[in-house]
Amino acid sequence: MELLKIDSLTKVIKKKKILDDISLTVNSGEIVGFLGPNGAGKTTTIKMIMGLFSITSGHITVCGYDIEKDYEKAMKNVGGIVENPDLYKRLTARQNLEYFASMYDGDTKSQIDEVIELVKMAGRVDDKVKTYSLGMRQRVGLAQALLHRPKLLVLDEPTNGLDPIGIKELRDLLKYLSKNADVGVFVSSHLLSEMELMCDRIYIIDNGVGIGEKTLEQVKDSGEEEIYSYSFITSDKNKTYDYFKSLEANCDLTNGGVTLVMKRDEIPGIVRALIKMNIDIFAVNQSQRTLEQDFISMTTGTKTQIR
Ligand SMILES: Nc1ncnc2c1ncn2[C@@H]1O[C@H](COP(=O)(O)OP(=O)(O)OP(=O)(O)O)[C@@H](O)[C@H]1O
Ligand SMILES: [Mg+2]
Repeated sequence: MELLKIDSLTKVIKKKKILDDISLTVNSGEIVGFLGPNGAGKTTTIKMIMGLFSITSGHITVCGYDIEKDYEKAMKNVGGIVENPDLYKRLTARQNLEYFASMYDGDTKSQIDEVIELVKMAGRVDDKVKTYSLGMRQRVGLAQALLHRPKLLVLDEPTNGLDPIGIKELRDLLKYLSKNADVGVFVSSHLLSEMELMCDRIYIIDNGVGIGEKTLEQVKDSGEEEIYSYSFITSDKNKTYDYFKSLEANCDLTNGGVTLVMKRDEIPGIVRALIKMNIDIFAVNQSQRTLEQDFISMTTGTKTQIR
């Protein structure tokens, strides 16, 4: 089911185009990343999804409700955190949740128990928030965003300030929510490595312009075809270098060994050839080709065209 549809969204503030014709979708059960450098327009987009910013042109639809025409129905289906969660530090997590729940109708007691269970913070829920780590506060923020059982969860750079363990916990939690509570997650970040681990699909934005969508399968598939840089450590680096040169390959002698830029599926043949030449191979390291490289090439491509 399509939970979020952004269609040709444009935002102009003081004659400046902050967002230019952004379109994207989020389906239930999916974690969709929104990746872009500082100032790209991530927070602006997320504020617009949460109804905190007006729309200059285009449409945002949440669970089929246009947020301009059916504001309340659309908002019932969105929960989110923009910047840091707003919590009362002298209250416990449960008291914070009780306070926020009092703004919604329904069976608040069971709702609170449910979200505490969902974000897995049962053990600490009656401690004061001021004694919490940043990671725990993020959890309470998530619990708060989930209180009214929204179908769509929108998070603006939720891993900011978290350590690697906190980031992993958040990632596992979002995966759990998307797969078990059938929530769709739209999450922004400027860190590609993080998005690759967390998301099913990624949209890239730069300077207010959408510059591409990738599924993780596409990222992985492209790995077979792509050209990587390899570092060879062998018993005879000069002989290795001469051999690479004879292939007319892009190669270089370094302190430790020889680097070679080559298609991935050529490497086994090259390794066999080196062995036949009685060269011992101690290591062949492939440089990490990640979405990072696509990201950099895509974003540097657009910078000059806009503004
Ligand atoms: N209220 C505003 N008035 C004028 N310009 C604004 C306003 N809000 C945002 N901008 C501008 O819009 C652009 C996008 O900002 P936004 O905060 O959405 O980027 P971001 O992708 O969230 O960046 P970051 O990674 O730094 O959080 C920036 O150039 C910013 O200066
Ligand atoms: Mg931002």
